[in-house]
Amino acid sequence: MPLRKEQAHDREPVRSIHRRAFGGEHGDTVAELVDALRRDDPTAVSFVSEETDEVVGHVMFSRCLLDAPRRLVDVTSLSPLAVAPEWQHRGIGSALIRRGLQELDERGVPLVFLEGDPRYYSRVGFGPAGEHGFRKPSLRIPDWAFQVVRLSAYEPWMTGTFVYSDTFWRHDCVGVRDEDG
Ligand SMILES: CC(C)(COP(=O)(O)OP(=O)(O)OC[C@H]1O[C@@H](n2cnc3c(N)ncnc32)[C@H](O)[C@@H]1OP(=O)(O)O)[C@@H](O)C(=O)NCCC(=O)NCCS
Repeated sequence: MPLRKEQAHDREPVRSIHRRAFGGEHGDTVAELVDALRRDDPTAVSFVSEETDEVVGHVMFSRCLLDAPRRLVDVTSLSPLAVAPEWQHRGIGSALIRRGLQELDERGVPLVFLEGDPRYYSRVGFGPAGEHGFRKPSLRIPDWAFQVVRLSAYEPWMTGTFVYSDTFWRHDCVGVRDEDG
């Protein structure tokens, strides 16, 4: 499966994938989040998947913090991930995640956090973060959705609260909002 690092000319196709995969207003928000993460975090890891010369999938990993007892630790958030609707269920999303994790492992990133469905993310190594000594950054994240993968640089003292970068807060892309709240 052809995977490669995102390049400048991929920006519009990447925006379009997120708009279509997430849909509606949320799709627009996610597309804006990607642009902001790229601007705010020069170390962000961004991969695309190509089929017949067309970008059909995208994943982004960006720098966040773990507020561990000993010190703040640079960790990473996996968000967002999307595959164009007509290309879903072919292993593209999983391949993008695995490629990204490989890159982060090589860079010495110890931990990658995400919010998502454990039935999907357990296939690529993620597990319940709460059970590994981590605290959620918001009460609006359901316990089951808060997940982590520990990479080679992880050490057992690295516990504590996961803290999103400011970019996620500014775009209100943390947890789920209660429409009736
Ligand atoms: C989630 C997403 C990236 C998966 O991409 P994909 O390329 O279809 O994923 P893969 O082919 O690697 O895996 C697909 C499998 O995961 C399962 N799966 C996909 N999304 C799932 C979910 N939310 N919960 C549980 N299982 C899920 C599918 O049932 C599928 O299994 P099947 O192929 O046996 O039917 C894609 O569905 C998407 O873009 N969705 C909209 C955006 C989104 O929700 N992003 C994730 C936000 S956390």
